[in-house]
Amino acid sequence: MRLDRFLIHNANISSQECLALIKAARVHVSGILAESVAQLLEEGDTVSLDGQSLQSKAFNYLVINKPAGVVSARADKTHSTVLDFIKAGNFVGELPKFEAINIGKLQIVGRLDIDTTGLLLLTDDGEWNYRLTAPEHHCVKTYRVQLNSELADGLVEKFAEGFLLQGEQSKTLPAKLEQVAPKEVLLSISEGRYHQIKRMFKASKNRVVRLHRESIAGLDLIEGLSPGQFRFLSAEEVARLG
Ligand code: URA
Repeated sequence: MRLDRFLIHNANISSQECLALIKAARVHVSGILAESVAQLLEEGDTVSLDGQSLQSKAFNYLVINKPAGVVSARADKTHSTVLDFIKAGNFVGELPKFEAINIGKLQIVGRLDIDTTGLLLLTDDGEWNYRLTAPEHHCVKTYRVQLNSELADGLVEKFAEGFLLQGEQSKTLPAKLEQVAPKEVLLSISEGRYHQIKRMFKASKNRVVRLHRESIAGLDLIEGLSPGQFRFLSAEEVARLG
């Protein structure tokens, strides 16, 4: 792990503060003065700030069943945010034994539109967030989509081939479309372009009337969670996701 990542999480500071502390020669790694935020920590290294050893804290990994009308953002002037549900302690199951969540450090792992419902992950582990959202990792997300009109012929093949959305330079990655009713499909995509699913159907002369994310990497993590409820992921789920 990089030294700055360790300090941000365990000393509860920002990346700028981290840089300033290292420049001010206040950080040591296993007794040796730290020189760079990018320094990599080895197994068994200890980190101290102003001579005080810092304990390594566990990261938090949460899943929420996002309701409609709620924004996937840290703050919003007019709407509730998913963090409001975390602040309200609207959780199911057991709180992990380790430290309480620092809500200020939680990151939203891939956003959903305000009217999209379903599975949304949150974490204070920036590397895990990156592994799940970086385009090169092709993490598969499956959505249940209600359409305004019946699915046109040939769309399964068109979605599998990928197509150019308006204003984009590259084709969408192959997507798996499975029809479950005349106006309902399951769609699995492995990227997260802006309003991607709505734009894909718009380009196919149809319209999304309801969008619900059911699973990520094949895992349905919101079974048993009502809209607005969240829970902590197990270590096994965290490992399977990223
Ligand atoms: N695609 C969309 O259009 N909206 C979402 O919220 C997620 C994927």
